[in-house]
Amino acid sequence: MDKYLVKCEKIDDFGRGIVFLDGKVMFVPDLLPNEEAYVIKTLDKKKYSLGKVVSFVLKSDDRVLSKCKNDDCGCSLKHLKYEKALEYKNEKVKNIFKKFASLDDVVLKIVYGDKKWNYRNKVTLKVKGKCGYFKNNSHEFVPIDRHELAKEDINNIISILNKEDLSNVSEVIIKAYDEIMVVIKGYMDISNLKKPVSSIYMNDKLVYGSKYIYNHIGDLKFLVGPEAFFQVNDDVTLKLYNKVLDYLPKDKNKTVLDLYCGTGTISLFLSKYYKNVIGIEINKDAYLCANLNKEINDIKNVNFICGDVSKEIDNLKADIVVVDPPRAGLSKEGIRDILKINPEEIVYVSCDPVTLARDINLLNGYKVVSDTPFDMFPMTYHCESVCVLERR
Ligand SMILES: C[S@@+](CC[C@H](N)C(=O)[O-])C[C@H]1O[C@@H](n2cnc3c(N)ncnc32)[C@H](O)[C@@H]1O
Repeated sequence: MDKYLVKCEKIDDFGRGIVFLDGKVMFVPDLLPNEEAYVIKTLDKKKYSLGKVVSFVLKSDDRVLSKCKNDDCGCSLKHLKYEKALEYKNEKVKNIFKKFASLDDVVLKIVYGDKKWNYRNKVTLKVKGKCGYFKNNSHEFVPIDRHELAKEDINNIISILNKEDLSNVSEVIIKAYDEIMVVIKGYMDISNLKKPVSSIYMNDKLVYGSKYIYNHIGDLKFLVGPEAFFQVNDDVTLKLYNKVLDYLPKDKNKTVLDLYCGTGTISLFLSKYYKNVIGIEINKDAYLCANLNKEINDIKNVNFICGDVSKEIDNLKADIVVVDPPRAGLSKEGIRDILKINPEEIVYVSCDPVTLARDINLLNGYKVVSDTPFDMFPMTYHCESVCVLERR
């Protein structure tokens, strides 16, 4: 295969090095600005190609030896000094706001947590005899003994699983909060899993322990089910929820609408400062957990609705709206209905700055006060944000 000598210009929004080869752009993972390397082409398209480093000619001072030794695993920034990765994410959000929403000077300094590694409280692993993952955009399976982004409790479960006969298992989800849950697709003997684990599901059926497991964020307790969403980095989540709270005017006469509320975390976090909070969530498991969470925290002024935001907000009234949608952002109907509610403030929690910037443009009549990026996913290119919008 032909090798090409290239020099990296900068990193793209997915953490890949950008180089130019014969006038065409090539994206090369694991390559930093100003580094020179021999690369091979792994994909050649009309407008761009993908490359892979074969050997380095010049390495950057910002390069570090990574704890994760896996290839193509999703740790797209593991080779970059952490301070530089934070700068990169801050700049990336600023550039996206400028490019897609024509906004300058609204993006504040990125907030980060205590843990750069071993922070994830949930992983989904593919299984082929052993736990592992498929390389990005490929069917090549890579077995693993450890997952360096995951908490040690998860790594303990991986080592137990890898000693078992996994020939009839295709996937496992491991959630490690204050208690541990394992969700198995397929069949296996679970005798050795029972000791460290509080809950085991096999093919959607509870086969051991409790239906839900406990987590806590700050002073609040949360029960989480097998299919319910929960933020993956507990330490950064607390900082993020506190930021949402900091931004909002506290007023016991006001009603807050928490759209895409998951297990009710933000609703319950805000409840003591407002007259009432209404949360909307489409996932039934998460909705059931939200109601349990209201009970176990003895909170009375919160109500949850199970359904699609676009349909359920139609006739609701609120002074403040908090939204935390999936990566795809808000739907057109959702935006139309939020505008109809006409809240004085909107707090938009986002895991994708591009869809956030797109939606800001559509929230006519609102002005961005500030956006705070959060490093919820260290070592990856992903970046969470809390954006505050005020009625003009
Ligand atoms: C990023 S999570 C946020 C959850 C919560 N705010 C938290 O911090 O844990 C997005 C949530 O939106 C829910 N969801 C996705 N589409 C929805 C829709 N159309 N209507 C209501 N909820 C939806 C998902 O099930 C998920 O729980």
